[in-house]
Amino acid sequence: MNSTPGSGLPRSTQQSNVFRPDERGAAGVPAQKERLSLHVLPPLPFELTALEPVISSHSLSFHYGKHHRAYVDKVNELVQGTEFADLTLEALILRTAGRAEQQQLFNNAAQAWNHTFYWHCLAPRTTEAVPATLLRKIAESFGDLSTCKRELAKAANEQFGSGWAWLVSDGARLQILKTGNGDDPLPKHLRPLLTLDVWEHAYYLDYQNRRADHVQAVIDRLLNWEFAAANLST
Ligand SMILES: [Fe+2]
Repeated sequence: MNSTPGSGLPRSTQQSNVFRPDERGAAGVPAQKERLSLHVLPPLPFELTALEPVISSHSLSFHYGKHHRAYVDKVNELVQGTEFADLTLEALILRTAGRAEQQQLFNNAAQAWNHTFYWHCLAPRTTEAVPATLLRKIAESFGDLSTCKRELAKAANEQFGSGWAWLVSDGARLQILKTGNGDDPLPKHLRPLLTLDVWEHAYYLDYQNRRADHVQAVIDRLLNWEFAAANLST
C-alpha cells in the first residue's frame, strides 16, 4: 500500500470517512493538488454548538476561528515566495522537523495540521461504541479500553505546558504519547489515531485551570472512536 512518507497515512484508500488532512476531502474542501497556492482553514465537521456542554460554542469559536485560523494564516505568510510554497502541510512538517532555522514554520504547519485532525477526533454524541477492529487492537496493546483511556488522560494531564496527547499506531501495536507545543507523531513515523489538544486555549474559557476535568469529559463523551478505527484500518 502506498503511504505518505513519514506518516504512514495511506493515500490509496478509497474510504471516504478516513481523514487525511492534506487531501482535505473529509473536511469538504478542495484536495491539496487542486489548490493554487494558499492553505485554507477547513470547515469544522460539526456545528459550533455540537460539542456542548463539554466544549461550549464560545470556546470553540475562539479555538477554531482565532487560533486555528492564525496557524493557517501564518503558514501562508511564511511560505510565500520560498521553496516551501507548494508543499502540503504534511510535507512541510516532515521537511522542517528538527531544523532550528525552520522552527517557526514547523510550529505553525504542525499546529494547522494537528487542529484539523483534532476536530475530526471529536464527535457530537455520547455513544462509546468502539469498532471491533480497534477494540481488539486496544486489548492487545493496553489490556482493555479503560486502561487505554486512563493512559490517554494521564498523558494529557502530565504534558507540561502546551501540547497534545495521542493514541498512535507504530504499525504493530498502539501507543499513548504526549508531544509539546506543536510537535506531532508524523516525524516519528507513527500513525495518529486520535489526539487531545491540551493547550490552555482548548479549555480555559470553559474550565479555567481544570485541565483534568476537560480531558476526562472529552474522553468520556466526545472521542470519535470510529474515526480512530478508520485511521487504523487504512
Ligand atoms: Fe488548539
